[in-house]
Amino acid sequence: MPIQEKTRARDTCWLPEEGQGHRAEKVHISVVGNGFRLDTIKKVAQTYLPRIFADVDIVDAEFANVIVGTFADLGRSERVGHQEGYRIFADGSQLIIAGDTEFGVLYGFYEFLKKSQQGCPLLTMEAEDQPAMEVRMINHWDNLDGSVERGYAGKSLFFDNNAWAASDEEIVQYAEMLSSIGINALTINNVNVHAKETELITEKWLPQLAKVANLFDAYHITLFLSANFASPMTLGHLQTADPLDKRVVHWWKTQVEEIYKYIPTFGGFVIKADSEHRPGPFTYGRTHAQGANMLADALKPYGGVVFWRCFVYDCLQDWRDRSTDRAKAAYEHFAPLDGTFADNVILQIKNGPMDFQVREPVSPLFGALTQTNYVMELQITQEYTGQQIDVCYLPMQWQEIWSFDTHANGEGTKIADLLSSRQQDGKGKGVTAVSNIGNNQNWTGHPFAQANLYGYGQLAWNPEQCPRKIAEEWAKRTYAHLSAEVRQTICSILKRSWSVYEAYTAPLGVGWMVNTGHHYGPNVNGYEYSPWGTYHFSDRSGLGVDRTKTGSNYISQYKQPVAELYGNVATCPDELLLFFHHVPYTHMLKSGKTVIQHIYDAHFEGVEEVEAFLEAWEGQKEAMPDSLYMHVKERFEAQLANAREWRDQVNTYYYRMSGINDERGRTIYK
Ligand code: GCU
Repeated sequence: MPIQEKTRARDTCWLPEEGQGHRAEKVHISVVGNGFRLDTIKKVAQTYLPRIFADVDIVDAEFANVIVGTFADLGRSERVGHQEGYRIFADGSQLIIAGDTEFGVLYGFYEFLKKSQQGCPLLTMEAEDQPAMEVRMINHWDNLDGSVERGYAGKSLFFDNNAWAASDEEIVQYAEMLSSIGINALTINNVNVHAKETELITEKWLPQLAKVANLFDAYHITLFLSANFASPMTLGHLQTADPLDKRVVHWWKTQVEEIYKYIPTFGGFVIKADSEHRPGPFTYGRTHAQGANMLADALKPYGGVVFWRCFVYDCLQDWRDRSTDRAKAAYEHFAPLDGTFADNVILQIKNGPMDFQVREPVSPLFGALTQTNYVMELQITQEYTGQQIDVCYLPMQWQEIWSFDTHANGEGTKIADLLSSRQQDGKGKGVTAVSNIGNNQNWTGHPFAQANLYGYGQLAWNPEQCPRKIAEEWAKRTYAHLSAEVRQTICSILKRSWSVYEAYTAPLGVGWMVNTGHHYGPNVNGYEYSPWGTYHFSDRSGLGVDRTKTGSNYISQYKQPVAELYGNVATCPDELLLFFHHVPYTHMLKSGKTVIQHIYDAHFEGVEEVEAFLEAWEGQKEAMPDSLYMHVKERFEAQLANAREWRDQVNTYYYRMSGINDERGRTIYK
């Protein structure tokens, strides 16, 4: 079970720490022009620059050696050509940080801060950049009582005991963190909107949320709320939430009008409908498009948007029913509706067809939709990937996902291209991800889990970046006060951690051998006879899910040649073999091992790797503060216990099923 950690005041993130202000170069900075985000830049400069440079002052332009502002305010004719883009360049003895808009200037300033932290001399800081993804969002799954669904970093940052819990200072700190990595939108409440949380869109909460929205907006982060599709019934006392009922339409219009009265910058709604017992349009025989468009229509006059989740499947499946395959659900529900959604609806599609497993193929819905806006939804919180006890650096996974070639528009249509291609209004593409933040002192429970948030922002900005380099950059910024050797130890662990986690858990893409409910630790058959549609079908001769033509034919949802690649057992990549095929234990993998031997080897090696993590960490004991050392050591010990449990349960189970010995004669508890 998750390690409990006491909640204390906030500490370290990648932004500069107090007391490092050694750099001798003077930074006399001038922020030219007036604007909400320009004021923010002044505040950020005042907080962080003295932590890097010894001599910092905010001065008039004529006395400055660093000038910040929009090109227009600086009286310059250059442009970047993107409202969030920026340019940093030297002009004589001055460094200029400029953008087409104040959003771009803000991001340029953060880049300047990063380069300053890394010791780059002022006048050599040349940079020009703009984000690849338009939507770079975070979804909190926080509840009003302070709990966080799938949260592993303490309680909610925002709520406690049905009241607002965060100080303005905390929100500002958090907004700084998010905006420094380019996040430009967030929801603060759970997609499962329970009774109390429906009230967030009412006058009871709107005055408070208006302040919060404003604090985030100063950092160019737009506030959205998760809303309950049945709100007209729970809040409006109507007998129906039918999206085509005039009273329902009117109720939403009035409610939205009220929201915008308080929060003119409100982004819109995130909706989980007809999914895991949440209400939705199906109850009234309406389609998802009819449901989403009704809300979109209410938001349209204010420029608001609906993020409509595609995580829709039958969660009351009979495990005996072999004709239903959960993996097919999102595509089956949404691909036929392509082109019928309003232009301010954005479909929110989980990266894989199941649910944030350590290994899944990319959802075939990407690339299938050609006339619909969509974003990919990732999970930064480590629900199925170690719950911030086990270290698992997820940017390695995301980078692989984003490099996947869907062949949607012929060869070379990578996911990253699909997510970053721009819509006219710039709103329709990008990524969102479930937050891993809580009120723990270090924000994320495991201090290394911060690298996942950092990496998410970095990759959303530029998916071409190497996740290994991002890990190094994160470690360098976050642990500037520690030795290069400690940082190297951390990075080497991070870089291996995703494949290590994969090695000691469910094999070859099959997923789901996890404890039910809380989703930590092994339980090979935990989900096997459940209604959730999550099966591995192990028997005495083999395992895996046949999703080819002889099985559920899920593979037909992919474009060619992807369907052929996955559908053919001879070409299917090893790491996804059991996701697509049911094979004998003696099936020979491309690696040259049988499936059963792979299961044994991976589980032994996974545990050995975690032992090596712990040993490497212990080797650095003298090089860091005790508190950090002990905190992480405790987590490695818990991870090791978890990995051993996985190894022994999985290996024993498959020995008993197959009767085949480990060819290397290692201990398997029979
Ligand atoms: C997972 C998770 C749930 C969550 C759901 C969702 O199934 O376990 O807690 O509500 O995803 O994404 O809606």
